[in-house]
Amino acid sequence: MARVGPRSVEAFARISKTLAQGVGSSPRAHDSPFVLSHGKGSRVQDLDGREYIDYLLGFGPLILGHAPDVLVSAIVEQADKGLLFAAGCELEYLAAEEVVRLVPCAEKVRFFCSGSEAVHDALRVARATTGRDRIIRFEGHFHGTVADIYVSSYPGRPYGPDAAPSPKRDVIGQPPSVLEDIIVLPFNDLGVVEATLRERASEVAAVILEPYPWNNGSMPPREGYLSGLRDLTRKHGVLLIFDEVVTGFRLALGGAQEFFGVVPDLAVLAKALGCGLPVSAIAGTQAAMQVVDDGTLPLLGTYNTNPLVLAGVVAALRELARDDGAAIKHMHAIGDQLRVGLDEAFREMDAPFVTGGCGPMFTVFGSTEPPTCYRERLRTDLAAVRRFRDSMRDRGVWFQIDGKLFTSAAHTETDVEQTLAAAREVLSLQGDFAVVQ
Ligand SMILES: Cc1ncc(COP(=O)(O)O)c(C=O)c1O
Repeated sequence: MARVGPRSVEAFARISKTLAQGVGSSPRAHDSPFVLSHGKGSRVQDLDGREYIDYLLGFGPLILGHAPDVLVSAIVEQADKGLLFAAGCELEYLAAEEVVRLVPCAEKVRFFCSGSEAVHDALRVARATTGRDRIIRFEGHFHGTVADIYVSSYPGRPYGPDAAPSPKRDVIGQPPSVLEDIIVLPFNDLGVVEATLRERASEVAAVILEPYPWNNGSMPPREGYLSGLRDLTRKHGVLLIFDEVVTGFRLALGGAQEFFGVVPDLAVLAKALGCGLPVSAIAGTQAAMQVVDDGTLPLLGTYNTNPLVLAGVVAALRELARDDGAAIKHMHAIGDQLRVGLDEAFREMDAPFVTGGCGPMFTVFGSTEPPTCYRERLRTDLAAVRRFRDSMRDRGVWFQIDGKLFTSAAHTETDVEQTLAAAREVLSLQGDFAVVQ
C-alpha cells in the first residue's frame, strides 16, 4: 500500500465513523486512507501537504484539470441566478447545441446526472424502438452499475468458453433475472457477433460497447471491427450504442465515433462532458431518439438539465472546442510523450511492463505485449503493476491502481519529466517488480 501521512489517517478514521466504508464510491477504498485538501491544474495536495501529479483525474472527467477558471466562473455566475427550475431554460439549448455540433451521431440529446443512469436509459430507448429485449455486450467492458447491464464487466476469471462467455453478475445483490436478457461476447471478434446476430437478431435490441475499451485496460478495436459492427447491426435492425462515457470529448472532440469514423445510432456521454460536474447524456440520430422525442418513452429525472451543471457543460465544451480543439490536441501530445517515455524506461531497465492505448488514455500492463481482450488481460501481472503504481504514488505521481492513466489539458512537460524521473527511480529498485508466475 502506498504511504500516507498522519493527518490523512486521522481524517479517514473520522470519515469512517459516519460514511459507510469511509469512501464516497467503493473503488476509492483502494487508496484509503488518503485524504485530499485541494487540487488545481494537474496537481492535488493531501492533508499532509504532499503534492501529487494527478493522472487519475477523478476517474476521467477532469480533462481541463482541477478547478479550471472558465468552469469555476461559469458555475459561480449561474449559482446566483438559480440552482434548479423544473422548466425550460436557455442553457438547455446552449448545451444541447454544443453536443449536436461536436458529436457526429447527435441530432437529439437528453441530459442526465451519471453515466450509469444514461446507459440504462439508452438501453430502454433501444428496447422501446425495436420491441426486442436482449442486449449484446462484451466481456470486460464496463457500462456502469445499473442492474440490467452490470454483468461480466470484470468477472475476475474466465467463465465459459472464450467464444461464448457465460454471463456473470458483477456484484452480490443483483437478482439472477438480470442474466436473462444479456448476451456476453468476446471483444474484437467480429465472426462471433455475426454468428450470434444471424441466429438471434430477432431478440436483440442493441449492441453496446466501449468503442475504445478503457475500464479493463486500453485495448483498441481491431482494424475494421467497429465498421463491421456498424454493418452487422444495420443489416439486422439492431441499434448500435457506443458507450462514450470515457472516450467522449477525449479521443477526439466528437469522441471515438469521430476518431474512428464510425457513427453509432446512440452514444452515451458523461465524464469529460462536464469536466468534473455530475452530468451525462444520451445523444442519437433523430430515428434512434424518436421514441423520446415524440413522448412515447418518458425519461424522467428531477435534476436533469440542472442549470448549474449546464452552465459548466457549455463553458467546458466551448473551452475544449476553442482554437480548433487545442486543449484536446495538447492532452494527446502530452499523453503520447509520457507513454513513449514510460515504454522507453521499461525497455531500457528491463522491467516487465508495457503500455497500451493512445494519447490521453493509456494503461501500464504487466506483460510484454498489450492484451487485445479481457481474457488476455487476466493473464497479465496486475500485482506487479500495483506495486509499481503504489511506489509511484509515494513519489508524488498518482494514477489508477490497475495502471490506467489519463492526461489533461493542464498537464505540462514538467509533469512528464518528473513522472519519468520517478518511474526510473522506482524501476531501479531491483527485484521489486519481478513477474509473479
Ligand atoms: C464506459 C463507462 N460507462 C459507464 C460508466 C458509469 O458512469 P458513472 O460512474 O458516471 O455512473 C463508466 C464509469 O466509469 C464508464 O467508464
